[in-house]
Amino acid sequence: MPSRISDAFRAHPVDLHPNHPDFTSLQELPDSYKWTHQFEDFPSTPVFDSSRVSEPVPVIDLNDPNALQLIGHACRSWGVFQVINHGIPTSILQQTESTGKTLFSLPLEQKLKASRSPDAVSGYGLARISPFFSKLMWYEGFTVFGSPLGHFRQIWPRDYTKHCDVIEEYEKEMKKLAAKLVWLMLGSLGIAKEDVDWAGPNGDFADASSASQLNYYPACPDPDKAMGLAAHTDSTILTILYQNSISGLQVMKEGVGWVTVPPIPGGLVVNVGDLLHILSNGLYPSVLHRAMVNRTKNRISIACLYGPPANVQISPLPKLVSPSQPPLYRAITWSEYLGTKAKYFNKALSIISSPQ
Ligand code: SIN
Ligand code: FE2
Repeated sequence: MPSRISDAFRAHPVDLHPNHPDFTSLQELPDSYKWTHQFEDFPSTPVFDSSRVSEPVPVIDLNDPNALQLIGHACRSWGVFQVINHGIPTSILQQTESTGKTLFSLPLEQKLKASRSPDAVSGYGLARISPFFSKLMWYEGFTVFGSPLGHFRQIWPRDYTKHCDVIEEYEKEMKKLAAKLVWLMLGSLGIAKEDVDWAGPNGDFADASSASQLNYYPACPDPDKAMGLAAHTDSTILTILYQNSISGLQVMKEGVGWVTVPPIPGGLVVNVGDLLHILSNGLYPSVLHRAMVNRTKNRISIACLYGPPANVQISPLPKLVSPSQPPLYRAITWSEYLGTKAKYFNKALSIISSPQ
């Protein structure tokens, strides 16, 4: 089992040297991108706009005195919510989006020079979940692992320093927000700082691990047959997602179907990841989500993948375990969990469930 997060990300069976098409030159959707059975897993699952379901994906103002309760409700019933008044300046979000646009609009040869290589996590490539699907996704992405950026800086020529600085600043801000959100999410379950021994002396999760994933979904000639990013849950504690003004993210709501999460200017999407699912002993289920594509518009999203330090064992928090609520999962580090997920994908949680 890998002992470092970076090893675990590397262990993921990704096509490391993607033979990417130049999306901009394709007038028709190649067969290898046609998801004729895109609803295969969920045959009759309807798709709804968030505004047309009786209870839309919650939007929570972090300055709201009831934010803690609202977050608890959102985590229990949706596994996802949007935050506003989160404290991250809009200028940082906009600059990072514009850096993403610059990097994705580079000629394909130049992006391929920044490909993820076998000895590094950071770089350009296919969707990390590609190996689990027979069809290709209408997607390209940059993974930026580590703060400070480390290897990601080395794959770029000097004149890209400014873009790397922008991503580094983004990552720093996201980590601060993620720590605050973890406490709100756990706080809504009655968990206090002393209940989490790896939170660090100030409870600021100083040793937390994180990565930024820049996602790009170019305009697609046949969006109804294509898939941006296939359905998955995140292996994180939580993921914070910035999406530009183009919608595409859909989340699975029990008993309803796929619900679109509409972009809100300055808003950020927060997903419950598998590790929070484990910590909460199943009370906060990780959310299944996917990204759809658009006929005329390029969509960009930037995910901050946030989790514990590499060597920390994650298991259901003792306060949430009792004789009537036995632990649903065995203890596991993030690295080990990433390895399990890389092998079993969306079955990973059931693989590590405790025998009852
Ligand atoms: C993700 O799941 O990492 C990205 C989803 C999106 O682009 O909306
Ligand atoms: Fe995701």
